[in-house]
Amino acid sequence: MTHPVWPIFDLRVVTPRLELRSITDELAAGLALLAANGVHDPAYMPFSIPWTDAPSPQLERNTMQFYWRCRADFSPTSWNLNFAVIVDGTIVGSTGLLAHDFPTLRQFETGSWLGLAHQGRGIGTEMRRATLQLGFVGFGARWATTGAWSDNAPSLGVTERLGYTRTAARRAVRRGEEHQIVGFEMSRAHFLDSVGRDDIELHGVAECLPMLGLDAG
Ligand SMILES: CC(C)(COP(=O)(O)OP(=O)(O)OC[C@H]1O[C@@H](n2cnc3c(N)ncnc32)[C@H](O)[C@@H]1OP(=O)(O)O)[C@@H](O)C(=O)NCCC(=O)NCCS
Repeated sequence: MTHPVWPIFDLRVVTPRLELRSITDELAAGLALLAANGVHDPAYMPFSIPWTDAPSPQLERNTMQFYWRCRADFSPTSWNLNFAVIVDGTIVGSTGLLAHDFPTLRQFETGSWLGLAHQGRGIGTEMRRATLQLGFVGFGARWATTGAWSDNAPSLGVTERLGYTRTAARRAVRRGEEHQIVGFEMSRAHFLDSVGRDDIELHGVAECLPMLGLDAG
């Protein structure tokens, strides 16, 4: 049964390989502990906000607070919907969709990470596909965007594999030095032609559409 007040709790995406589950407090704690076990080589910072540089247990607490903040700040015109990624019953990472003015722009940004032990096995690509399926098929998006440091090979690998179009690059500071963030976008037409799959199930979407300011139909 769908949650009577907050249907987003029951939003799920299921692929043959993994499941995206809306982040409950229990899943948030699981993700926090996973992140504390390592998301990347400490010598390299893959994120534009260096949240993984915090020492344990501050990192775990910050991680939970981030997920709470996303929930608390949710509105139809500004949202950051995060999911735990589950493979064979194990929490392996997180993926999310972030949007401003979605009812008008129909555009969302994606972001994701996996625990170190789960990287390099195609899970990142599969979870991006699942995230895109929710945005384009579930929410009726017209555009998806993403970005990564120009030297983040695994993140760029996922993006290139799915055939995004490169947009503008911008300069940003990483650990005190100037680096470049490369931007990409994917149109609805490209998603429907080359990325969307009929073996990915969306659950609980209709109940969430009014919360997102979208027509339930
Ligand atoms: C980015 C991330 C989610 C990608 O997930 P993943 O499961 O490791 O990636 P995949 O196994 O699906 O690989 C995706 C593609 O990148 C390529 N790739 C992966 N690691 C690579 C590396 N170190 N160097 C070059 N290419 C790489 C793969 O070959 C694959 O391309 P292909 O399908 O054409 O063969 C994951 O590596 C991660 O969490 N990294 C740390 C956090 C991070 O960088 N988040 C994104 C911030 S923008």
